[in-house]
Amino acid sequence: ASGAKVERLALSRFTTLGVGGQAEVWTVENHAQLSEAMSAPYRILGGGSNLVIADEGLKERVIRLGGEFAATDLQAAPESTAEHFISGWVGGGVPLPGLLRKLRTLGLSGLEGTVGVPAQVGGAVWMNAGTRFGEMFDGLFALEIATPEGVSQLSPDELPWGYRDSAIPRNHIVTRVRLQLTRSTPEAVSAKMQNADTSRKGQPKMKTPGCAFKNPGGVGAGKLIDDAGLKGTQIGGAMISPDHANFIVNLGGAAASDVHALLELIRQRVGVPLELEYELWP
Ligand code: FAD
Ligand code: EPU
Repeated sequence: ASGAKVERLALSRFTTLGVGGQAEVWTVENHAQLSEAMSAPYRILGGGSNLVIADEGLKERVIRLGGEFAATDLQAAPESTAEHFISGWVGGGVPLPGLLRKLRTLGLSGLEGTVGVPAQVGGAVWMNAGTRFGEMFDGLFALEIATPEGVSQLSPDELPWGYRDSAIPRNHIVTRVRLQLTRSTPEAVSAKMQNADTSRKGQPKMKTPGCAFKNPGGVGAGKLIDDAGLKGTQIGGAMISPDHANFIVNLGGAAASDVHALLELIRQRVGVPLELEYELWP
């Protein structure tokens, strides 16, 4: 009724792992369409860069943000000062890498630490993606969040956030954000991005959902899995990367169950409890 585009699609094409069966995909362009999409059980899909989706697919509908939720307004808002730049609204469905390229061109500093995260803005905010050089919440001025009950705007100060975590509840959809950045130069922003990017040198360039486990503090999960001798272990079409042990990669034709089996093996072999970073759907 609202005009949202509804299609039955394989989700493998929307995930960086390249795995995932079918679901009813609702691509929404405005709040009326989003509201209709949220009227039945749903999941919100971002860049699909942190997901392992079952080969059987999903019962729930899957919402993708398009239209006004994929638009970027980087005009300086009235709240801006000589030093600080406050943006207009940037859609939750905007790919983060493209946004960072624009910020580099404009010489706007604050989000360089998130370089190389292949997320959408909304997904990156939801879990506060980042690296030791910085994270999404470093550059937020305001958020707009939609739920079946309605749409609200809030300040990041109203949410506690931490390492790979925000207090935004599951299925509360980050529809748009406004950025709070420092005015700098394209050269300086570019240098900070390059510096953050060098920390990714050891990461595999294959189909993957990023790091499997959060670092448990102190020693990294990658080092623990490596020390357990698991690099290169293969189950079906999935493998623990020989380059970096906290990455599981799809060798081609991996099933979600292959990835699940590797995660289970890691948990059995590593003596320390590990918290999963990515999500298993369902
Ligand atoms: P998805 O994978 O689509 O979804 C993940 C979760 O976010 C789901 O619960 C989903 O429902 C929710 N979500 C998605 N969009 C929204 C929205 N608009 N509103 C509310 N919830 C939403 N992560 C890091 O933190 N640092 C890194 O350095 C890093 N490097 C990576 C490198 C590679 C090669 C890959 C593949 C991944 C990497 N990741 C990294 C992991 C991943 O990019 C992040 O977890 C990212 O935040 C996921 O965002 P997404 O938009 O892809 O979300
Ligand atoms: N290490 C090993 N063996 C391995 C992997 C790593 O010994 O197989 C060692 C490295 O030599 C290094 C240490 O472990 O001394 C840390 O490794 P790295 O520098 O690769 O950082 P990381 O802690 O493994 C974190 C994030 C990444 C982020 C990078 C770069 C987590 C779980 N991972 O990795 O984020 O890109 O830093 O800043 O916090 C993600 O979250 O998906 C992700 C990729």
